[in-house]
Amino acid sequence: PYLERMHRFDVLEEKVKQILNLDHVIIAPGDSDQEEWVKFDLGRRAYEFLQTRLKPNDTIAVTGGTSMAAVAEMMQPSTNGTNCLFVPARGGLGERVENQANTICAEMANKMNGEYRLLYVPDPLSEETYQSIIQEPGVREVLEMIQQADVVMHGIGDACTMAERRKTPDHVLDKLKKGNAVSEAFGYYFDRQGQVVSKVRTVGMQLEDLSNVKTVIAVAGGKSKAEAIESFFKQGRSNVLITDEGAAKMLIKGS
Ligand code: G3H
Repeated sequence: PYLERMHRFDVLEEKVKQILNLDHVIIAPGDSDQEEWVKFDLGRRAYEFLQTRLKPNDTIAVTGGTSMAAVAEMMQPSTNGTNCLFVPARGGLGERVENQANTICAEMANKMNGEYRLLYVPDPLSEETYQSIIQEPGVREVLEMIQQADVVMHGIGDACTMAERRKTPDHVLDKLKKGNAVSEAFGYYFDRQGQVVSKVRTVGMQLEDLSNVKTVIAVAGGKSKAEAIESFFKQGRSNVLITDEGAAKMLIKGS
């Protein structure tokens, strides 16, 4: 039965890979919407995949969220990525501190015996503050590290869930509703076709920067995220997905 199950996931992984046009898909059994441990299993698999890609002195940019927090939780000292540097992909996005990229980035570095650099930026930022803060030498230095990341690891959220969790102001909620936003990643909200509906004003990685990164790993599971996952990959900027059976089965059903 174990081999049968392995085979079943091989087929499912191949299907999801084709639907989303990805280089690599890894599926964990179960549904993280139903059982909390599945999210940690996703985290473990994401860490194992990361290990296969890391070289000494690599820079890894990471986003926030509970899935990325689970990846951090499951990390162990690195064997390949010695002396790696963790940076937050973007500044604060209105998340609780344990779900913020800065916190997760520091925890990952500690677990993997690496280094980290943080982005100290207020949240949210006005246009005026944004323009002046990116001129600050301390911020510029970290921004350059982010733009030169070798690997990016990020979560994908359901647009409504994320907007609510981040206590998004009413006028932005209206914009998300009118624009039919279904997914969120890196503080960007996307519609079903993968078009940007809105973005949170913060410093750090811009969507365009992802095109220069060889390995972009998305970690997202749960049946409720299937639509969000499909929407995010429409704009084709990540090439690896670590997901679960719940999301994967829903994805192939919907396509
Ligand atoms: O930044 C947050 C992610 O897009 C999704 O968060 O992993 O807690 O669902 P999550």
